[in-house]
Amino acid sequence: MKIELKDKKVFFENQGLKKEIHPFWLRERVNGDNFVDKKTQQRLFDPTELKENIEIDNLSLSKEFLEITFNDGAYTKLAIKNILKEFSNINEVRYIEKIEWDSSLENLNNFEFKDNLFEGQEMYKALVNFYKYGFVIFKKVPTKNNFIVNFANSIGSIRRTNFGEFFDVKSKPNPNDLAYTSLPLAPHTDNPYRNPVPCIQMLHCIVNEVSGGFSTLVDGYTVTQKLKKDFPEYYKILTEIKVRFQFIDQNVVLEDWAEMIQLDENRNFKQVRFSPRLDFVPLIDKNKLELYYSARKKISELYNSEKYRLEFKLLPGDLLMMDNHRLLHGRTTYDANEGNRFLQGCYIDYDSTEGKLKHLKRKFNL
Ligand SMILES: [Fe+2]
Repeated sequence: MKIELKDKKVFFENQGLKKEIHPFWLRERVNGDNFVDKKTQQRLFDPTELKENIEIDNLSLSKEFLEITFNDGAYTKLAIKNILKEFSNINEVRYIEKIEWDSSLENLNNFEFKDNLFEGQEMYKALVNFYKYGFVIFKKVPTKNNFIVNFANSIGSIRRTNFGEFFDVKSKPNPNDLAYTSLPLAPHTDNPYRNPVPCIQMLHCIVNEVSGGFSTLVDGYTVTQKLKKDFPEYYKILTEIKVRFQFIDQNVVLEDWAEMIQLDENRNFKQVRFSPRLDFVPLIDKNKLELYYSARKKISELYNSEKYRLEFKLLPGDLLMMDNHRLLHGRTTYDANEGNRFLQGCYIDYDSTEGKLKHLKRKFNL
């Protein structure tokens, strides 16, 4: 890709295709001290107040810079590399390639907690792994004084819900969710009834004295890719029908309608939702429902199959950070008479991890 000039016009050429760059697009990007705040990189002018018929009065191009004077008097020197950057709309985080995994995955993405973790290169590596695998486990994270809140807020900001800023996961009397019992929990995604669904869940093990209560993880990305390949009809219907997810307690009624496999604008994987205790398919045509029920049964079989399920024990201090739009999680049953099992959980959203990742990338020039 390169930049060229002709008759006071700027062109970019890409794979033999030459197109003019709109002068207003360039005018919006003037970057001298009078136009852009140095620290925040925010504009000091309002481009909607500029006159529309902006033209270029003077142009010069060197190897690294494009210098322009516009017909409203504004002058700027733009770095060519910054202009070229804008032609690919690549969001670096979205383009970290997902790695498919199943129960044979051996590397559990362990990173050890240390004091300067959040501003160090190790955190950058952990976040890249998070986007590759959908989870990462931090070891030896302090367990006192609800440290999970500090942890989450050191990456970004906690996403508070009606379960509170964070929640204690242990068996308790009169629970409003099965998570707060010692019953086994089949693989599920959290809170599919929220809009938006919390992006990332953190689970921090404080005490674990029981022999059962293993944590489980399943990669919804791997499983839905498999479904797409082997059962395309099932895949298709699960990407089409919006089902209602619902949570009800004494204080709130939460509902949202969404596909169990949600695709993005390019028909690629975006998000899975799976919580068969909370989903209600609308009353649609009988034949369609027939297919839907078979599809749900099949995906449930895959999600629950040993082939895809990682099973491991969280030890005190372990903090599991997982992508709730990609992974399913659960736990095996345990005997509450053996001792205590106490985890703390909270949610954060993608802006936290993306923002931190990009900040660290910039900081270490990676
Ligand atoms: Fe959960």
